[in-house]
Amino acid sequence: MNVLVVGGGGREHALVYKLKANREIKNLFTAPGNAGTEKLSQNVNISPENISEIKSFCIKEKIDLVVVGPENSLALGIVDDLSKSGIKTFGPNKRATIIESSKAFAKEFMQRHNVPTADFCIFNNIQDTKAYIDKHGLPIVIKADGLCAGKGVFVVHTNDELNEALKDIFINKRFGVAGEKVVVEEKLIGEEASFFAISDGEKVLPLIGAQDHKPAFDGDKGPNTGGMGAYTPAPLIDRKLYQKVMERIIYPTIEGLKQEEIEYKGVLYAGLMIKDNEPYLLEFNCRFGDPETQPMAMLMENELLPILLSSVEGGIDKTEIKWKKGYSICVVLASGGYPGKYEKCKIIQGLEDVQKMKDVYVFHAGTKKDKEGKIITNGGRVLGVTSYAEKFVTAQEKAYEAVEKIYFEGMHYRKDIGNKALWRLK
Ligand code: AMP
Ligand code: GLY
Repeated sequence: MNVLVVGGGGREHALVYKLKANREIKNLFTAPGNAGTEKLSQNVNISPENISEIKSFCIKEKIDLVVVGPENSLALGIVDDLSKSGIKTFGPNKRATIIESSKAFAKEFMQRHNVPTADFCIFNNIQDTKAYIDKHGLPIVIKADGLCAGKGVFVVHTNDELNEALKDIFINKRFGVAGEKVVVEEKLIGEEASFFAISDGEKVLPLIGAQDHKPAFDGDKGPNTGGMGAYTPAPLIDRKLYQKVMERIIYPTIEGLKQEEIEYKGVLYAGLMIKDNEPYLLEFNCRFGDPETQPMAMLMENELLPILLSSVEGGIDKTEIKWKKGYSICVVLASGGYPGKYEKCKIIQGLEDVQKMKDVYVFHAGTKKDKEGKIITNGGRVLGVTSYAEKFVTAQEKAYEAVEKIYFEGMHYRKDIGNKALWRLK
């Protein structure tokens, strides 16, 4: 069997890592991949958004399954295009990606299907948005409707922040058409978590809960990033909460999609806020999480390929998923300045030392090889140092022990990944 993974981040390296273990796969490719996926698969220099080139490659190489990482490729309709040519592709079709690509649609969908979420209103101009917020008062959350690479959400506490957000969205039109509409919603106070499930269009297979760390600095300070670290399972999501998430969020969503005749296959990623032990849905994503996939890949005991195939072909309820006992933690190492401006092409040192460590794996994100074959930085999030252990505290210690061995100029990372879970497990 020939498999192509689309994407070049840490999430895709984690998917390749799991797929590599499968004996049925003869040829494994990643487009475009990074210096990490290059070790496990053949990197193909095609952009994840160049669907016609991906299609030609699939036909030429007789690809049997395409696994799509990034939301942009999905929202562009990669699944529809490849499926039309008879190429099996894991992920939702273009129409179904609306649950992530329009926050206005997602919120109204949640309302229609009684999925618990923050109260909200939708506006398409600055005057009405401002008038509503003046009446409502601060704090409040303003979200650009469309895909904004995680930058379109403003949690507003002061008038200055409010004016800045409105200027950014409506006057500077920073998000283009993605900012033509906004969702204005109540600010929920609680603890965030991610929950993952996979659907085959009919049935759903729950995966696991995880916690990401979006702010750049320790103590959840600083600007939001793509995610600075994650662990799974999240002790916050105990058995009772897991049941609530399934019954109030995952099942009603899958049923709602069916009722609205939206065929939904692929990952259903629920971004949750847990408030007084009750789950509220902040957002849907239609893909695996990054960096959550990295620890999930290390914790997953069984093979990933049959699960992905059963999502595409049907019969997901006949598959099962097994997790190792214990925990996995991923600490992201980022370029100096990220999530703002940063420099690339810094030499990464120490990776060989980490390779000798047991139960530690370094997933690459923004990395590539230079002309001499040295691994250098090539993006904002560079590496995801990921560990596994039966005890949470051991996993955390191991991850940071490995982090200490790695160096590149300007490297920064959070030193508190996992502290919330440790506190809860005490
Ligand atoms: P989203 O892309 O909708 O998940 O929002 C990005 C981030 O903004 C979330 O991870 C939260 O940290 C924050 N956020 C979004 N909606 C709310 C809300 N209603 N209350 C508090 N924080 C929120
Ligand atoms: N963990 C954040 C994301 O994947 O969007």
